[in-house]
Amino acid sequence: MNNETLKNIKERRSIRAFKKEQIPDEALKAVLEAGTYAPTSRGMQAPIIVAVQNEQLKEKLANLNAQIMGATSNPYYDAPTYILVMAPEDARYPVHDCSCVLENMMIAAQSLGIGTCWIHREKEMFECEEGKQLLQEMGLQKNMIGVGALAIGYPEGTPSPAKPRKPDYFKIIK
Ligand SMILES: Cc1cc2nc3c(=O)[nH]c(=O)nc-3n(C[C@H](O)[C@H](O)[C@H](O)COP(=O)(O)O)c2cc1C
Repeated sequence: MNNETLKNIKERRSIRAFKKEQIPDEALKAVLEAGTYAPTSRGMQAPIIVAVQNEQLKEKLANLNAQIMGATSNPYYDAPTYILVMAPEDARYPVHDCSCVLENMMIAAQSLGIGTCWIHREKEMFECEEGKQLLQEMGLQKNMIGVGALAIGYPEGTPSPAKPRKPDYFKIIK
């Protein structure tokens, strides 16, 4: 079977090189809104999504992430926008909820011709004092559990097709 949704799911790839051009606000809002329609435990809508386009804040986030990673390059691949997804520490299933939000946004972006890559280490970032300062700078509570982020922007170049799926990835038991 095939349709636009299945095509977008199959054609989405992690994008690690971005054009400098910013994505339009309308597209960003559509992606963020798609995130808000993800399923959440008990329908509580626990996740919080923060899109960052401020260059000083992006630099601070990239430096902290790189420090945790032990890298010198920008872990967000110099994308024009970073989207952070987190949940308050009293959320019931923060990782599951936020992962659904992240995936929804990745597929929505793909459908708009926009590339994304899940960027990790948000958990460690917002556990440390420097990260908590950044949460405050973003007008958020300090008690957030970081789950993941997206680097998002127009892809530079064309990614290679997805690797073949492992043959025993799923089974159907009737
Ligand atoms: C939980 C998780 C963490 C990830 N962290 C990173 C990361 O920090 N940096 C990165 O470049 N890609 C990261 N990725 C992207 C994976 O490397 C990528 O999805 C995988 O290689 C498959 O490639 P595809 O997305 O193009 O299908 C992450 C993906 C997931 C689901």
